[in-house]
Amino acid sequence: MLYEGSRLSVEVTDGIAVLCFDARDGSVNKFDQATIDDLNAAAKALAEASDVKGLLVKSAKPAFIVGADIMEFGERFKAPEDEMKRWMADANRMFSTIEDLDFPSVTAINGMALGGGLEMCLATDYRVMGEKAQIGFPETQLGIYPGFGGTVRAPRLIGADNAIEWIADGKPRRADKAFAVGMVDAVVAEDELEAAARDLLDRAIAGEFDWKARKAEKTAPLKLNQTEAAMTFETSKGYVLGQTKGQYPAPIEAIERMAKAAGMGRDAAIAEETEGFIKLAKTSEARALIQIFLNDQLIKKKGKKYGKIAHTIEQAAVLGAGIMGGGIAYQSASKGVPILMKDIKDEAIEQGLDEASKHFAKGVERGKLDARKMAEGLSRIRPTLNYGDFGNVDAVIEAVVENPKVKKAVLAETEEAVSENTILASNTSSISINTLAADLKRPQNFLGMHFFNPVHKMPLVEVIKGEKSSEEAIATIVDYAHRLGKTPIVVNDCPGFLVNRILFPYFFGFQQLITDGADFAKIDKVMEKFGWPMGPAYLSDVVGMDTSQHVEEVLAEGYPDRMSIKGKSSLDVMVENDRLGQKSGAGYYKYEKDKKGRPNKTQDDKAYELVATVQKDGQKDFDGDEIVDRMMIPMIIEAARALEEGIAETPNEVDMGLIMGLGFPPFRGGALKYADAQGLATVCDKADRYSHLGTLYEPTARMRDMAANGETYYAQ
Ligand SMILES: NC(=O)c1ccc[n+]([C@@H]2O[C@H](COP(=O)([O-])OP(=O)(O)OC[C@H]3O[C@@H](n4cnc5c(N)ncnc54)[C@H](O)[C@@H]3O)[C@@H](O)[C@H]2O)c1
Repeated sequence: MLYEGSRLSVEVTDGIAVLCFDARDGSVNKFDQATIDDLNAAAKALAEASDVKGLLVKSAKPAFIVGADIMEFGERFKAPEDEMKRWMADANRMFSTIEDLDFPSVTAINGMALGGGLEMCLATDYRVMGEKAQIGFPETQLGIYPGFGGTVRAPRLIGADNAIEWIADGKPRRADKAFAVGMVDAVVAEDELEAAARDLLDRAIAGEFDWKARKAEKTAPLKLNQTEAAMTFETSKGYVLGQTKGQYPAPIEAIERMAKAAGMGRDAAIAEETEGFIKLAKTSEARALIQIFLNDQLIKKKGKKYGKIAHTIEQAAVLGAGIMGGGIAYQSASKGVPILMKDIKDEAIEQGLDEASKHFAKGVERGKLDARKMAEGLSRIRPTLNYGDFGNVDAVIEAVVENPKVKKAVLAETEEAVSENTILASNTSSISINTLAADLKRPQNFLGMHFFNPVHKMPLVEVIKGEKSSEEAIATIVDYAHRLGKTPIVVNDCPGFLVNRILFPYFFGFQQLITDGADFAKIDKVMEKFGWPMGPAYLSDVVGMDTSQHVEEVLAEGYPDRMSIKGKSSLDVMVENDRLGQKSGAGYYKYEKDKKGRPNKTQDDKAYELVATVQKDGQKDFDGDEIVDRMMIPMIIEAARALEEGIAETPNEVDMGLIMGLGFPPFRGGALKYADAQGLATVCDKADRYSHLGTLYEPTARMRDMAANGETYYAQ
């Protein structure tokens, strides 16, 4: 054995060194400090070995290397710049040492090689890839870019334009795509992978392939003349800026550094890469995006725990075939869980089925499904007008009209029709789960399962625990949400639950701004620039004014101290005038269908006339910062309250709820991460500036304590 460590070993047989990644204490190989230390030692041993003719790199795990240990690296990014620089130089040295070995090298890529894993592969001269494997650079999705030579070796190997695409979009590529651009030299079936890699290595050793030219190509300046370089880098920068609206600095930094390093040899280019990497690692965007990744892992870990006590749902049912019921039925059927869809009206059932077939047909159009799979999927939805088949249903999702009396009656009759163990979950968006549970015979089997509209697109499901909901019931619904491809967040019962409760204070901020004379279209522009996918006026139109008004009423009743509405708002005026938003063709904006039948938003003078009726002091111009603060502060404070009251267990879950349920700008990391980025003292100061606007702008005592003590929601 030439080298043996906890993450990898190197064994030399007949002059062939085999470097095998096989983390001793984990199910996957990932790049952590121990791997870097091992690889440095192994590279040194290989460089000093006298009897080696060739190097084969492989993995003994089902995936080659899944990427960096984000938890560990995230901590490293907090170190002072020169410390980070030393650390990166150390890591880069090992790859360069491998690249500079005076014998040929080949990597056999199985399963997955992402981030540092792919950079490892690029350090060797050749790559053979299993046909089912995937490779890519996901770093920009974390607000950074490849920092172990990826931005240097990739463009030299596959051309600057391809490398920019791979790095900027952060998506993994399948073997055929990787082969097409030359990122790998051969693609073979998984069971032939090692033999094929060994064959390539033998032929390189025998001189059939010019491996020295390969090394030279990867370490030399990029082969682009100045005009080509300017075209490639400038054009792609323009494109990426358009796509990211200037809110995600990582892909832009990557392009700029690649451009700067184009004329440099490897070592100088890597120094350039390191500089840009450190700059990115220190941005608030990287901190937020890395935190989101860690939040996601935390939620998955919780999900796994629930998985242990969950009952598997073999047969589901949904009550109501409307917008939500139809969506839930489609989602369940498309993910392989048969579902009964009950309504009281034939037309509703027909519409629900129509919607589902449209979604399945889209899948066929996009080549994701074939006609047989579509037919199978559709047959998993069984429409019915009665409870006849409910006896062997494992879970029922209630999605009838949002009326507590109707819901209570429907739940009571459902309880009679199902078995003792069936779980009942309500998709109510505002009615208290404890209220709905009050008259049930088996409240332990009842809870909330709140999907977002449109069901097939929105990733979040709030799972709402009633006081009496059992752990098994919660676990079973969490498990079902996972099977539907959703991310469940378990929350406690309260008016508006987690997400709507925090959204509406933001809407209240919006209405108050309008009443004080602000232009709603300007507010939309400012909030979209802040990072929201749509501004609050546009969002109100999409949600529907009547729906918003209804939730507002529920929240006013639930939180009378701060959410009871004083005076008439522009929303009330819109409802009075039947301008319910997109669904009625007009709200704050006017909507006309375009050629593809999609609603096209245009400005409408009538909306301005109506809005003017609530602007007693006329119109007033507000600057962008004031608009942002007046909208965001109530949201931050309500998020803090929800956390303090234990509605969600952790700041991580509060923020993920907002990102997945509302589209909160990911690069800001959620309301609490955004509060951390500003500092609680600044948030409280700003809130005090607007205290005349009402108690929604009053920070909690805990927030003031945190501000005084310099505390944050997340460990810094
Ligand atoms: N639409 C949204 O954006 C959204 C989002 C999240 C949650 N929700 C909630 O989902 C639920 C359904 O909302 P929707 O928008 O789908 O409403 P919808 O009006 O589109 O559909 C409701 C359906 O329930 C049916 N129905 C009424 N009484 C019934 C009964 N006794 N048995 C079976 N079916 C019955 C109606 O015929 C109708 O087809 C509501 O509680 C709503 O608050 C809606």
